[in-house]
Amino acid sequence: MSTPTLLDRTDIEGVDFAFQDDPDVHATLARLRAERDYAVVPFAGVRAVLLLTHDLVSAAFKDESTFPAAAIYRMTTGPVLGKTLQCMEGQEHRIARGVATPSFRRNRVADFVQPLLEPLAHELIDRFQGNGSADLVADFTAKYPVLVISRLLGLPVEDEATVHRWAHDLFYFPLDPEAAMRASREFTDYVTPILEQRRREPGDDLISRLVTESAEGEFLDDEQILSFLRLLFPAGADTTMLALGNTLSALLTHPDQLALLRSDPEEWTQWAIWEGMRWEPPVGLLPRACPEAVDWHGISIPALTPMIFSINAAHRDPSVYERPDEFDITRKKMSMLSFGQGVHSCAGNWLAIAELDTALRVLLERLPDLRLRPGAEDAAKVTSQVGVALRGPNALPVRWRR
Ligand code: HEM
Repeated sequence: MSTPTLLDRTDIEGVDFAFQDDPDVHATLARLRAERDYAVVPFAGVRAVLLLTHDLVSAAFKDESTFPAAAIYRMTTGPVLGKTLQCMEGQEHRIARGVATPSFRRNRVADFVQPLLEPLAHELIDRFQGNGSADLVADFTAKYPVLVISRLLGLPVEDEATVHRWAHDLFYFPLDPEAAMRASREFTDYVTPILEQRRREPGDDLISRLVTESAEGEFLDDEQILSFLRLLFPAGADTTMLALGNTLSALLTHPDQLALLRSDPEEWTQWAIWEGMRWEPPVGLLPRACPEAVDWHGISIPALTPMIFSINAAHRDPSVYERPDEFDITRKKMSMLSFGQGVHSCAGNWLAIAELDTALRVLLERLPDLRLRPGAEDAAKVTSQVGVALRGPNALPVRWRR
């Protein structure tokens, strides 16, 4: 007779955490968390361990030896993005991250990136401001972060529509792997000669920095640079798109909070952004894997168990946040789990914060009396995107005073 294991039964039936959207996901997670700090849930036809509290999710992120990022990313994104930072471990990861990411450090964002951000926000808003109405997802949030990356890389402005299509296809990899593989190949063919050109004549753009800078005496080879560039679109643009959409959705459906923000943007913008990311983190349920059998924080996890780090449950953990389901920008708390933690934590968090801050300020400044179109509350709700890991609104139909 085999020994019973943790995975012999699930704590919930009727929903697959890999594929199916649960429209009431926060209530489901709260119900499971009230029972235990973790739950066993159906995931892509097998059983996964879902971590539900702030303490467990934070500890799991920091425990790279038990839950190595590479174990999952090599399978999920490896085929389309290549061997990205997320697929690397140890010294290889440290050196590649050391070369690729200094431009995104807090102090470098201010001088390198900030000058791009405000003009670009105005440029996009100029295209629709005179209309008095827009869908802020289609017209702004889906465009702004991709264009930020494209301009940081110093790609020609006339190629931006094509770059946007590649970024879109890479993001939808799980739904249309063929289109994503094609986008990956086309982007590689497009950008490889640009690497060569920037090696010969470096400028002040990110590609020039990637081809000329080193860490611990080592440079990145072309494939390492290419996989980093491919990663920037799903990791850097789509996450920021969803974060901006979620914060706007929260503000537009909580007019009292929007009014408070408008009363003193200098004081409240940054807290609105952090509260938006706490309330609806764009990466809500992050898949990982546990390659070896382990007893971890009292949980006996068999080898090869899929794990889900529920950032969205951790952010509504009542032992950390009072009234966790309320969107309240006066909390003044930084919800750091949004960007992960530990060695693989987000390399672009300060860029993301700068983008969100600029976009929110400029949108509110340029669109007076911004509000949802009557009857658009349902359309503006946050739902799952490309599977259930990521969350954001599909549309934000709005009006303002012209
Ligand atoms: C609000 C926007 C963003 C959110 C919520 C976000 C979230 C995350 C999370 C949760 C991780 C860790 C994944 C894991 O541990 O498996 C991560 C990693 C990463 N992010 Fe972000 N991210 C955002 C914006 C950006 C931006 C703007 C960039 C760069 C331009 C970026 C680049 C990266 C990279 C390169 C990694 C991999 C780091 C490594 O493995 O060493 N992200 N991000």
